[in-house]
Amino acid sequence: MNIALFGPPGAGKGTQAKELSKYYNIPHISTGDILRANVRDGTELGLKAKQYMDKGELVPDEVLIGLIRNRLSESDCDTGYLLDGYPRTIPQADALTDILNEINKPLDAVINIEVSDNELVKRLSGRRSCACGESYHVMFNPPEKEGICNACGAGLYQRDDDKEEVIRQRLAVYNDKTKPLIDYYDDAELLVNIDGSGAVDVVLNDICNIMDKFK
Ligand code: AP5
Ligand code: MG
Ligand code: ZN
Repeated sequence: MNIALFGPPGAGKGTQAKELSKYYNIPHISTGDILRANVRDGTELGLKAKQYMDKGELVPDEVLIGLIRNRLSESDCDTGYLLDGYPRTIPQADALTDILNEINKPLDAVINIEVSDNELVKRLSGRRSCACGESYHVMFNPPEKEGICNACGAGLYQRDDDKEEVIRQRLAVYNDKTKPLIDYYDDAELLVNIDGSGAVDVVLNDICNIMDKFK
């Protein structure tokens, strides 16, 4: 199954993708996670990307298109993939269509997780992340020990772009550059809308009902 999870910052793409990837045994490809790993490792890509990410801006299309082309060509994508955070612009979506045609892995569906702006701000401002990939929320999904990751015991941190002013900027960038993809994928008859405002398990169940059709 070849799926893209779509939605604004904080909609729950990462939270859902983590579960879906285990359940369906397909790789979770988060461009945000790949970029953050590069920032942590101090690679050339990471140094370039950080300037944009810290301001809540998008990293240039040509960087992302190269990155996603390489990642989708890896052999673990042979049985399917779950995209999270890509595509985010019309040029990225056009490039994706070309790449997927070349490798013969066209999308089955684009699942759009809908959540109100107020809820997004609450989710993002309360998120706490771990370098191992886990993430928590101070109210909605607190770790067993405050500030400590349940999975690996490391200290949790707040993402630099989860500060209030940067959150507002990310939402503005989403509305301007990314939201037009809803019509783009609706026209392509790939879009499925999901109510993302419920509890994690409820949203997960709704997404599974869609993905089961492509097993
Ligand atoms: P990226 O990492 O993709 O961030 P994002 O799209 O802004 O989305 P988030 O990861 O913030 O939210 P999410 O939907 O994954 O929510 P989560 O599950 O964590 O991108 C970061 C930056 O990288 C971009 O700004 C850009 O600079 C760059 N970048 C990445 N991809 C790019 C691209 N393609 N092109 C250009 N630049 C790119 O949940 C959020 C919180 O809510 C958590 O605390 C969670 O516990 C909680 N939560 C989740 N679900 C629920 C629920 N149902 N109920 C209650 N709480 C919930
Ligand atoms: Mg995420
Ligand atoms: Zn951890």
